Amino acid sequence: MSLTIRRYRPGDQEAVVKLWEACQLVVPQNDPLKDIRTKIQFQADLLLVAIAEDRLVGTVMAGYEGHRGWINYLAVAPDQRRRGIAKKMMASAENKLRALGCQKINLQVRRTNTTVINFYRTIGFREDDVISFGKRLS
Ligand SMILES: CC(C)(COP(=O)(O)OP(=O)(O)OC[C@H]1O[C@@H](n2cnc3c(N)ncnc32)[C@H](O)[C@@H]1OP(=O)(O)O)[C@@H](O)C(=O)NCCC(=O)NCCS
Repeated sequence: MSLTIRRYRPGDQEAVVKLWEACQLVVPQNDPLKDIRTKIQFQADLLLVAIAEDRLVGTVMAGYEGHRGWINYLAVAPDQRRRGIAKKMMASAENKLRALGCQKINLQVRRTNTTVINFYRTIGFREDDVISFGKRLS
């Protein structure tokens, strides 16, 4: 399988939203179009897509705020899973964050999402002894 991991382009928008829907990543509190629009104003080169045989099959959104790196919207099309696509996208995202000076990546996953928990453990992430807080500003 030929796989390309590259930066998001405007023409990818529809396929990205469809992928996020297929991966159940679209929830009422997040507007995917707004999330894409906002991201391409901040570190646009950290929104990556995976292309296999001309089809958009994966995404990962990374971010760096000067101290820690963050990962969101990691997704692989259901029929393309267990082929190492997420692992390759994460390697690209990690390289980009490292190049910016990032020393550690943080991320949040739902406790019930055992697939993604297993995935992150496999690629070297470990659970931190922290409570995750959040506050909505809008
Ligand atoms: C999590 C996800 C991105 C993994 O994508 P993927 O391309 O299938 O992952 P990879 O093929 O790179 O997996 C690498 C390794 O992770 C582990 N892994 C991945 N999926 C797993 C699963 N369902 N169960 C157990 N281990 C798993 C395995 O060790 C795997 O290696 P192996 O296939 O050689 O055993 C994908 O399942 C997905 O899109 N899930 C829905 C979206 C989601 O929940 N995203 C996270 C939001 S926080």
